[in-house]
Amino acid sequence: MSALLVGESVCKYFGGLRAVDDVSFTLGEGEILGLIGPNGAGKTTLFSVAAGSVPATRGRVLLDGKQVSGKSGHRSVHQGICRTHQIVRPFARLSVLDNVLVGHHYGRPGPGHGRPVDHAMGILDFIGLADRAHQLPGELTLAGRKRLEVARALATGPRVLLLDEVVAGLTPVEAQRFVELIRQIRDRGTSIVMIEHVMHAVMGVSDRVMVLDHGRQIAEGTPEQVVKHPQVIEAYLGRDDDEPNDHDEPTHGDGPMGAGDPASGQHAKEKPDA
Ligand SMILES: Nc1ncnc2c1ncn2[C@@H]1O[C@H](COP(=O)(O)OP(=O)(O)OP(=O)(O)O)[C@@H](O)[C@H]1O
Ligand SMILES: [Mg+2]
Repeated sequence: MSALLVGESVCKYFGGLRAVDDVSFTLGEGEILGLIGPNGAGKTTLFSVAAGSVPATRGRVLLDGKQVSGKSGHRSVHQGICRTHQIVRPFARLSVLDNVLVGHHYGRPGPGHGRPVDHAMGILDFIGLADRAHQLPGELTLAGRKRLEVARALATGPRVLLLDEVVAGLTPVEAQRFVELIRQIRDRGTSIVMIEHVMHAVMGVSDRVMVLDHGRQIAEGTPEQVVKHPQVIEAYLGRDDDEPNDHDEPTHGDGPMGAGDPASGQHAKEKPDA
């Protein structure tokens, strides 16, 4: 599998805080790479660097051999990389359809297949929002708004899609549908990096998983390898010498595969309404 997206020793410091600290990664063409790690690990910051919205302190990200980091967000979009936001950001006063048209308008210049509105409706149809095209984003459920966020990104025609917690906060049924959608997006030719705290979702759909903790990459491998990695278990559950004393309430009851564990299928963290 050839590397489409490459991160080379990416660092992003906010003053003395090393939000991303010397992280290197690759994403193959047609691959889904999961990106996990505890709160504040630097996942979203890595996306911001890769998508060009914040400059790296050091290092760089390349798409197909051309640098995408350190440029403005719209130039990165033109090069073929687009991210969604952890807190969804639709244009509240534009209809669902118009939101997608904005993505199309500012997206990667292409040969242009037919009318933009037909293209946008095609994406809404694929994403399952065609019947909501003329509603406002605020009329959608959280799952609908997350779908819209992905539709807007897809409308830019990305070769690489960065998904930031699109499953978190959804019901199990909605989450399962979203995972299926992510697979379909990949099958249609878009390579994906997905940040996710909903472990059964990210572990079920990812070809490989990379784990960050305190800005550092602590593990990378297949989902099966990563969930057994001692540093990953420690990052999520704490070290033995962090164990609660007799007075502490237990936070998980059934060992490394219990609730909150990367392998458990439980949510390490959920945001009720991003
Ligand atoms: N613009 C900023 N200025 C200063 N510090 C920041 C900024 N953005 C992020 N940080 C800090 O950088 C660290 C990494 O944050 P980031 O949002 O990338 O983590 P995350 O892994 O996405 O966490 P979560 O799972 O909670 O979304 C945190 O300590 C955060 O407070
Ligand atoms: Mg984040």
